[in-house]
Amino acid sequence: MKDMARTSTILPLRLEGVGYSADGTPLLSGVTLTVPAGRRLIVLGPNGAGKSLLLRLCHGLLDASRGRVIWADGSPRPAAQAMVFQRPVMLRRSVRANLAHALALNGVARADRAGRIAAALDRFGLTDLATRGARLLSGGEQQRLALARAWLTGPEILFLDEPTSALDPGATRTIEEIIRGFSAEGMTIVMTTHDLGQARRLAEDVAFLSRGRLLEHGPAAGFFASPATTEARAFLSGDLLW
Ligand SMILES: Nc1ncnc2c1ncn2[C@@H]1O[C@H](COP(=O)(O)OP(=O)(O)O)[C@@H](O)[C@H]1O
Ligand SMILES: [Mg+2]
Repeated sequence: MKDMARTSTILPLRLEGVGYSADGTPLLSGVTLTVPAGRRLIVLGPNGAGKSLLLRLCHGLLDASRGRVIWADGSPRPAAQAMVFQRPVMLRRSVRANLAHALALNGVARADRAGRIAAALDRFGLTDLATRGARLLSGGEQQRLALARAWLTGPEILFLDEPTSALDPGATRTIEEIIRGFSAEGMTIVMTTHDLGQARRLAEDVAFLSRGRLLEHGPAAGFFASPATTEARAFLSGDLLW
């Protein structure tokens, strides 16, 4: 799985004029964006800006009302992508069984599962928790399991929606290290956070949303040093929360 993203087939991901409306209310409008292979993109913006919607549209959990989400292989919702949420949804089974289930869903033969599960347990520090009920784990442990489950299926791109916002600082740092490790192996990352410190630590690129529109997109250094829009300046100084 180490070489999973070396020869990317589904990236870049392109969004062309993507919009999303609910009950006639536009929640996201005219989002045009390319996510190249191997980058770590942090999606920033005030509460309600549309960050979670954007990730759900990319991942294929929602269909765009306007515009198109285009994967390089042409498929509408390729398998080599995964998403991790703020609060992971675990089966009411053991840690090991949750990992086995993910492999089964992805069509991995039963005979090949044990080795891959052992590797995942080891890598994510879950070996001692393998037989524990997944829903009884701490928040940080559950999020490690969610990341292990995503990693097991060999995604080229991982969407993370506020993956650490329910975690304490120690667990947060652990998750950040895991994400860096994914990047180092070539996995493409698209992640939202409301933690600006975390955004500065992790971002290579930033996409800034406000009121359903993509106002800025580019290298993180430029965004943090000299944001181009009043909204982003206000957001970075803590004056734009909604
Ligand atoms: N299914 C939905 N139906 C109606 N409104 C929604 C739906 N999903 C999200 N919204 C609204 O769309 C806006 C953007 O939501 P969201 O993407 O969750 O924001 P963010 O993640 O940036 O905080 C919010 O105003 C939210 O209330
Ligand atoms: Mg959100």
